[in-house]
Amino acid sequence: MGQGDIDLEDIDGVGPKTAQLLRSKGILSVRHLALFNPEELIELTDMTPDRVEKILRSAREAVFGTNRVSRATDLAKNLENTIRLKTNVRAIDELLQGGLEPKAIYEFAGEFGTGKTQLCHQLAVTVQLGQDRGGVGGAAVYLDTEEAFSPSRIINIARRFDLDPNEALDNIYVIKVVNAADLEDRIKLDVVKLIEQANVKLIIVDSIIALYRAEFRGRERLAERQQRLNYILDWIMRIAKAYNVYVVLTNQVLDVPMGYIEVKRPAGGNVLAHAVTHRLFLKKSREDIKVMEVLDSPRLPYKASAMFRITDRGVEDV
Ligand SMILES: Nc1ncnc2c1ncn2[C@@H]1O[C@H](COP(=O)(O)OP(=O)(O)O)[C@@H](O)[C@H]1O
Ligand SMILES: [Mg+2]
Repeated sequence: MGQGDIDLEDIDGVGPKTAQLLRSKGILSVRHLALFNPEELIELTDMTPDRVEKILRSAREAVFGTNRVSRATDLAKNLENTIRLKTNVRAIDELLQGGLEPKAIYEFAGEFGTGKTQLCHQLAVTVQLGQDRGGVGGAAVYLDTEEAFSPSRIINIARRFDLDPNEALDNIYVIKVVNAADLEDRIKLDVVKLIEQANVKLIIVDSIIALYRAEFRGRERLAERQQRLNYILDWIMRIAKAYNVYVVLTNQVLDVPMGYIEVKRPAGGNVLAHAVTHRLFLKKSREDIKVMEVLDSPRLPYKASAMFRITDRGVEDV
């Protein structure tokens, strides 16, 4: 699929001047432009609502076509043909029915130390492998909100998969995110640019919730927090669909009282629960064994699980 395929000037309503304005705001292609809604584009560019509506309509038609109806048979065929991104942990790939599918959001939720960050590191490497080895020959962007990214882990994992460690590091774009507004800008602008220009196929946000919990404290800011969280998740999904990329988010857990006991639930409330496609829960089992369990998914069976272990070489089968 072409990524930055059509030039901004090629669509109705965009001349050289408007194209220049859009580029100066970080919108580099028609596909990128088509992701914006009118309010966002008005805020960004100060163009009039009429112009913005017109430009966005022609952008959408150019990118997504004028016929938006497909038969379910075609959809089924497309789904069969999607390339799965493997973790190369056999039990996990089986649980995920062959690996991660693109255009979907995967959530790894779990207590600290359950392997969320290690799995993200492993995927940042396996995405670089060829299709015959479970990858898609792409790069990764790692949005790091918890200072969790570790080059030394990448080096070890790369060696295990016979990749040149320096090349593996070169193919991972790390963005340190400082707050929610920063995360929004980085995703709406930088991440799209990296997808279009640096062959990024995997978006990792480790973790999605930390910034929001830190920034919007207290009950009175909860509604605002959820709204902002919803906003960024919606953007991530727009990007995943428009560019056919893979997405992994990590999430923390909360202790929720249930009678006499406490159960662990993913943070982020209904907003996160609805926004993610496949919700996977990670927990510790006996000794050094960890378990990934399906918590919610439109396709994977509820409570199905896979065991794994973390070693010096990354995430491995038990
Ligand atoms: N080099 C390593 N060798 C073996 N285990 C490691 C190594 N690095 C990290 N780990 C293990 O990974 C676990 C932390 O996993 P991590 O993915 O960071 O957790 P979280 O779910 O909090 O993101 C710890 O149990 C740690 O012992
Ligand atoms: Mg972590």
